[in-house]
Amino acid sequence: MKPQEMPSRASECRAHHRNLQQKLLDWYDRNRRDLPWREDHDSYRVWVSEIMLQQTRVAAVAGYYGRFLKRFPTVHTLARASEASVLAAWSGLGYYRRALRMHAAARKIVNEHGGKFPQSSAELLLLPGIGRYTAAAIASIAFGEAVATVDGNIERVLERLNGQPLTTRKLWDAAQALLPQKRPGDFNQAMMELGATVCLPAKPRCSQCPISQFCTGNRRAQFHARYRFRKCSLRRNKREVRYALDLRNRRVFMVQRKRNARLMAGMWELPEITSERPRREPCLSLRHSITNTDYVVRVER
Ligand code: ADE
Repeated sequence: MKPQEMPSRASECRAHHRNLQQKLLDWYDRNRRDLPWREDHDSYRVWVSEIMLQQTRVAAVAGYYGRFLKRFPTVHTLARASEASVLAAWSGLGYYRRALRMHAAARKIVNEHGGKFPQSSAELLLLPGIGRYTAAAIASIAFGEAVATVDGNIERVLERLNGQPLTTRKLWDAAQALLPQKRPGDFNQAMMELGATVCLPAKPRCSQCPISQFCTGNRRAQFHARYRFRKCSLRRNKREVRYALDLRNRRVFMVQRKRNARLMAGMWELPEITSERPRREPCLSLRHSITNTDYVVRVER
């Protein structure tokens, strides 16, 4: 081969990326889960799904998503709604500040953008509750903007592909370098899907991976295993919470949490019993976990 015909490092790299992109997109077309938010690319609906999916599992979101959209089918209905009704529709999904910020964003879209959804990741970033990850996910899926996103699943895929831990900056750069100009929304979702169903933290299914030929990590068992340790090393806290069930004229006495409370801000709940009060036999007792805290909840008459 004459020197001028030798492929340059950059063109080799582009060909390598194109090959990987094609393999991953083909796999996604054949294997993607039928999730309700993948039925269309309407920006309002994509936004609702991406906010719900922040720190929440796909299985938990699937039920809430349809019900929420029935209750608030457009950004206008959401903007007009009261905070209490938005929180009620969110009840059980957790991280309630997301719902309050989404409601504030809906009002901003209606009042400042005439109800038209901002169409670029840069403008989306200016809305409450939308960070870099969510802005890129919405802009790529709803508007086809070629902007990469990185969530926990994508981080794992990228680190394994590269065979080494990456800093935040390197992760975002690597994600952007891999992203095709065509179908960026599908590619971002294909990366998420690969992380969620194949490139699993503890037991990656490398034999089913459409891009294993490009992966450095799959040749290093120890590197694969490090995600198992990360997960197990999260220390769990235990907490007991006692609530009073105070019935007055057949009504239940409730109190509203502070608007700036760290957890469940602004939500209504039974009054909490301070620990000095003598304990009574609970009329209800249940266990509930939020992130890394396991709660035992007792309700006493
Ligand atoms: N997690 C966050 N966004 C997602 C999406 N669009 N599909 C699947 N999982 C996701």
